[in-house]
Amino acid sequence: MSGLRDLFGLAAETAADFHDSLDDRPVGPQATYDELVDSFGGPLADEGIGDIEVLTELIEAAEPGLVGSQTGRYFGFVFGSALPASVAADWLASAWDQNAFSVVTSPAAAAAEEVSARWIAELLGLPAGVASGFVTGAQGANTTGLAAARQHVLAKAGWDVGRDGLQGAPQIRVLAGAERHVTIDRSLRLLGLGTSALEPVPSDDQGRMRTDGIRATLAQATGPVIVCAQAGNVNTGAVDPLAEIADACEAAGAWLHVDGAFGLWAAASPRLRHLTVGCDRADSWATDAHKWLNVPYDCGLVFCRHPEAHGQAMAVAASYLQRADGRSPSDWVPESSRRARGFAVWAAVRSLGRSGVADLVDRCCEHARAFADILGARPEVEILNDVVLNQVLVRFGDDDELTREVVRSVQEDGTCWLGATDWQGRAAMRISVSSFRTTSDDVERSAAAILSAAAAAAGSLR
Ligand SMILES: Cc1ncc(COP(=O)(O)O)c(C=O)c1O
Repeated sequence: MSGLRDLFGLAAETAADFHDSLDDRPVGPQATYDELVDSFGGPLADEGIGDIEVLTELIEAAEPGLVGSQTGRYFGFVFGSALPASVAADWLASAWDQNAFSVVTSPAAAAAEEVSARWIAELLGLPAGVASGFVTGAQGANTTGLAAARQHVLAKAGWDVGRDGLQGAPQIRVLAGAERHVTIDRSLRLLGLGTSALEPVPSDDQGRMRTDGIRATLAQATGPVIVCAQAGNVNTGAVDPLAEIADACEAAGAWLHVDGAFGLWAAASPRLRHLTVGCDRADSWATDAHKWLNVPYDCGLVFCRHPEAHGQAMAVAASYLQRADGRSPSDWVPESSRRARGFAVWAAVRSLGRSGVADLVDRCCEHARAFADILGARPEVEILNDVVLNQVLVRFGDDDELTREVVRSVQEDGTCWLGATDWQGRAAMRISVSSFRTTSDDVERSAAAILSAAAAAAGSLR
């Protein structure tokens, strides 16, 4: 027994040391990929080794290759960090090793999912009684939401896609903004709808779907139609005009899916809620907990207004799969055996409460605006987007090469980490503030590092 305590104690000590080091450790990795493969590598051993030795070797091999995405100065992609209570709860999910398949396999896991999904639906302003599923992320949530959509729109057209598949089925039209997230395309591929079913709707300069385009296209709709709107463009943070899109969908009888991987969380903030007005009128929603709720990877949620279509698209039954009363988690997702993600989500929401979630979202957005103010005050710097949420697009000297060089040099410097993108044909630095840890000091330190990298890059390219 003491061996177990030593082992788990070592893991806990290592985790606490890692978290304590976050303020000071470089944000980027300290070893190359090949070096890391060597550290993990060696021939497959015939004999195993002791558990403490295993963990010690793992820590030594992994440590130089860890990315400081938990720090308050990591602004890459849209990475949230992980709230301490949710990290600890997630460890217990492993230690308890519950299979969140059903109420029979783990009533605790099933109950935690039910309650935390209800809380999140309430935070995001979704209608009471929506069906919900816990998946790996917004990719899984988009796929699940669109599977429910496919089920429903084809059933309305007299076709049972679960039984008869897509061969010979009525053609489904899928409308999505030109600036949709790439995961929508992958979902369409996985669902057999194919990307050629996609009719891109023109977007405005912030990446929002233009509603004149969608109204006109939907007015000609005859067969089954699915519309994919977006809350939170991955570059600009812009939210599609959801109320107007919902009006157009309602008039045409189209299914409205909202990809709100991070932007739906604006609804949890009284100050930002105006951005997502109309989102409650959709038919399905995808969001992430591992982004703005700051829960450890991986965790996304799908919600659906039509439990029947959702369940028909996902649920399975077999004589050996004993059932019990209550919400069976795997009825709402494409997986069977699954991790008990509800514990970490439950812990995150319990630790923050409604006001804490709103504060987390508001603070990230304030920091994003501070970045835009500090950087945009320089004449050589242009902020390319309206900073409505947590995303900032920055361009240096109106020059692609210079902008990419500044990003490269900031990454090398290690004070903070952020990535590059192209926004409407122009290179941009992409800043995403998604961590509860980020402070004003982090923003000021990072902005100073960015400006000094910009000055050096401008000098070297001159
Ligand atoms: C709008 C949007 N949708 C979907 C995704 C995919 O999310 P995940 O990587 O959690 O599957 C992202 C990721 O940034 C996103 O911004």
